[in-house]
Amino acid sequence: MGNAGPTGLKERIAAELAAVRERSLAYTDADDDMLVRQHSLLMSPLVWDLAHVGNYEELWVLREVGGIEPLRPEIDHLYDAFKYPRKDRPSLPLLDPAEARKYISGVRGRVLDVLDRVDLTAPDPLRSGGYVFGLVLQHEHQHDETMLATLQLSRRPGLVRDGELPPGRPAADPEVHIPAGVFTMGTGGGTGANPWAYDNERPAHRLYLPGYRIDRHPVTNGAYLEFVEDGGYRDPRWWLPQGWEWVERNGVEAPLFWTRDGDIWWRVRFGREEPVPPEEPVQHVSWYEADAYARWAGKRLPTEAEWEKACGGRTYPWGEADPGHQGRWANLGHRAARPAPAGAFPDGASPYGVEQLIGDVWEWTDSWFQPYPGYRCFPYEEYSKVFFGETHRVLRGGSWATHPSAVRTTFRNWDYPIRRQIFAGFRCARSEE
Ligand SMILES: [Fe+2]
Repeated sequence: MGNAGPTGLKERIAAELAAVRERSLAYTDADDDMLVRQHSLLMSPLVWDLAHVGNYEELWVLREVGGIEPLRPEIDHLYDAFKYPRKDRPSLPLLDPAEARKYISGVRGRVLDVLDRVDLTAPDPLRSGGYVFGLVLQHEHQHDETMLATLQLSRRPGLVRDGELPPGRPAADPEVHIPAGVFTMGTGGGTGANPWAYDNERPAHRLYLPGYRIDRHPVTNGAYLEFVEDGGYRDPRWWLPQGWEWVERNGVEAPLFWTRDGDIWWRVRFGREEPVPPEEPVQHVSWYEADAYARWAGKRLPTEAEWEKACGGRTYPWGEADPGHQGRWANLGHRAARPAPAGAFPDGASPYGVEQLIGDVWEWTDSWFQPYPGYRCFPYEEYSKVFFGETHRVLRGGSWATHPSAVRTTFRNWDYPIRRQIFAGFRCARSEE
């Protein structure tokens, strides 16, 4: 990202800003009812996400870097993600869809003016390498992925494109052995550091791991179905006590969006019903389900360190080449509205031979979201710091809905262990005997 000169970098940022806005507008190209309605208590109305990305851009680019007076100070509190829980947002006096579009486009015009005049070689960490633009770009793509989760929860058809994906391949050896040794986890400082990496990915630090085995591919629907059919959801042996309590209280018996009709399992995907495809990585499972499956399979979830080491110490498992929209290495950026079948991306394998680490489904790991040794909060506490502790589990690798600029091997996502609306699956690991 930071290799281009200041002019090339500005052009790239401008192009990426245009692309992400096109994406946000496409996901909100719907009637007002669709945009202001709350489709799930877990999610904001789509119109909130839309105005929120503009407000975030205003706070960071216009006010912090551009020194520009607030455009609409009276709405700041409405779009502060920490002020009101998602369930309460529909009752706020939010901008209506037309006002929201007008507001974010007004902000964007001024952002391009700031981009034009800012010195991206300045030592200030918000300006250096275009960090603040990377921040708002990734933020908007992350909200776009959230909007896709909301659209999926709405169970309404439309709005979602579905492109072609390469076919799957069976794995000759379903597990990959990663030898014991030291590796570098995280990023930061010096060449090779990702200039747009978040504070929680920093600093790079050396870590020793004993040898382990990790699944070559994410766990597929077909494999997961064996757990379901084996009575996995009715047997407390496989579940942590909190997970079992969650299963019983909610009557959970399959991944979210699955229903059984006789012998056939169906799923709803963006308003369309279809048989569950066995070769596709399972998604819409909670951390508890992933953990229970792993125990049933005689395995466990990988730690996030094990997951990252399996990537082989590069920006992407296949190397430094930007995944862009080529789709040769990974299923990212909503080229299709689904994970690709297991084995679809042999070129995307890590040096160890582990596949589909990036794209397809976010992968639950065994790790709590905690700071790395030497962590320094930047640029604000509410991005990562307030989430550290034993409340959120780390997810890695991005999903089919994640944009290439918002994922890399060091990227850390996190969520509550009961969450299933995100595009999350998992792979398993085993310690060496
Ligand atoms: Fe946000």
